[in-house]
Amino acid sequence: MKGLILAGGKGTRLYPLTYTRAKQLIPVANKPVLFRVIEMIRDAGIDEIGIIIGDTGPEIREAVGNGDCWNVSITYIPQEAPLGLAHAVKISRDFLGDSRFVMFLGDNVIEGGISSLIEQFADSQYNSQIVLKRVPDPEHFGVAQLSESGEIIQLIEKPKEPPSNLALVGIYMFDHNVFEAVEAIKPSWRGELEITDAIQWLVTHPDYTVFPYVHEGWWIDTGKPTDMLDANSLVLEELRPYIAGTVDSSSTVDLRVIVEEGAEIINSTVRGPTIIGKNTRIVNSFIGPFTSIYHDCVVEDSELQRCIVLEHSRIIGVESQLRDSLIGRHATIKQNRRKPHGLIMNLGDHSRLWLP
Ligand code: DAU
Repeated sequence: MKGLILAGGKGTRLYPLTYTRAKQLIPVANKPVLFRVIEMIRDAGIDEIGIIIGDTGPEIREAVGNGDCWNVSITYIPQEAPLGLAHAVKISRDFLGDSRFVMFLGDNVIEGGISSLIEQFADSQYNSQIVLKRVPDPEHFGVAQLSESGEIIQLIEKPKEPPSNLALVGIYMFDHNVFEAVEAIKPSWRGELEITDAIQWLVTHPDYTVFPYVHEGWWIDTGKPTDMLDANSLVLEELRPYIAGTVDSSSTVDLRVIVEEGAEIINSTVRGPTIIGKNTRIVNSFIGPFTSIYHDCVVEDSELQRCIVLEHSRIIGVESQLRDSLIGRHATIKQNRRKPHGLIMNLGDHSRLWLP
C-alpha cells in the first residue's frame, strides 16, 4: 500500500499563526502534526508516501525532506490551489498507480495509530474503507448515515441538518477505482471536488463496496485554536515522561513531565502532563498541566496553564496567569513595569486577545 498526505490548503481558522507557517507544521506536544501523521503511516508498514503541497510547499519540503529520517520515501505533489480533497486524489494518480492507498489529512490527530485499520483494509475485498466518529457537532464535517445493519446509506459534506452524528474522520482508504469516482463528480457549492461526493459515488455504484469503520478513541481535526489545545492535551496524556534536561533542587517537577535535552527548570513548579522543549529555560515560574513549550523559549516569573508556546518565545514577569493560549514563534509577552501603565500591544493581523 501507499500513503497520501494532504498538506495543502490555507489554514485561515488558525490565523495569525498560519500567516507564517503551514498549519500542518504547528506542533502538538512539541511535534508538528504532519510528522505525527508520517509516523502513523510508517508504523502501519507503508514506506512510499506522497504529500500534497500548496502555497506552503517550500516550508513543508524543508521540514520533511526526502523522508530519510523516518525511513520512508517522500514524493511531493504540488496542487495549484486547494480545489478539494478529491482533486488532490486526481492529481496523485501517477504517484499512486494501481496501489491500494491510505489518504490522511495532514491536520488530523487520532488516538492509537492506524495499523489495524490498514491491515483490515489490505486483507479485504472492499474498494474503500472510511473512518467515522460520533461527534457533538456533525454539521462541521462530512457526515455518514448508516442503515440499522451498518451499511452506508448516504454521505454528505457539512450538512445544515445532519442525518446522524457520525463524522467522517480525515483517514480514507481506497483502491484504484476511486479515480473513476473523482472523474465522475462535479465541484460542490464551495467550488471544491469533495472526497465525500466521490465516496458517495462508490457507495451508489453497484460494483463497488465501501466499509464504514466506527472509531471509538479520540480524534481531532486541528482546524481551530481550541482544537489545537485539545489535541495537545490528549497527546500529552499519551506520552511517556522523561527528563533529559536539568531540574534544580528548588524545583518540583511531577511524574508526568517531559524535560527535553538542554532544557533547564530553575526554582519552578511544573505539573504534567506537560512538555518543556529543548534549550528552554523555566525560571521562578509555574507551568501547569497540558502545556507544551517548544524549543529555545524563556519563561520567567510567570504562570502558564494549558498553553502551546512555539519556539524562541519569551514570557517574562507576567502577573496574570496565561491559560488556554496559543503563542506563536519569537513572541514576547512582558509585564510593563514603567509608568505610564497600560497595555502595549504589537499584534499580528487576526490576533485575538482576551483581557481580564
Ligand atoms: O477533518 C475531517 C474533515 O476533513 C471531513 O469530515 C470532511 O468531510 C472533509 O471534507 C475535510 O473537511 P475540512 O473542511 O476540515 O477540510 P480542510 O479544507 O480543512 O482540508 C483538510 C486538509 O487537507 C488540510 O490539511 C488541508 C488539505 N487540503 C485541503 C484541500 C481542500 C489540501 O491539501 N488540498 C485541498 O484542496
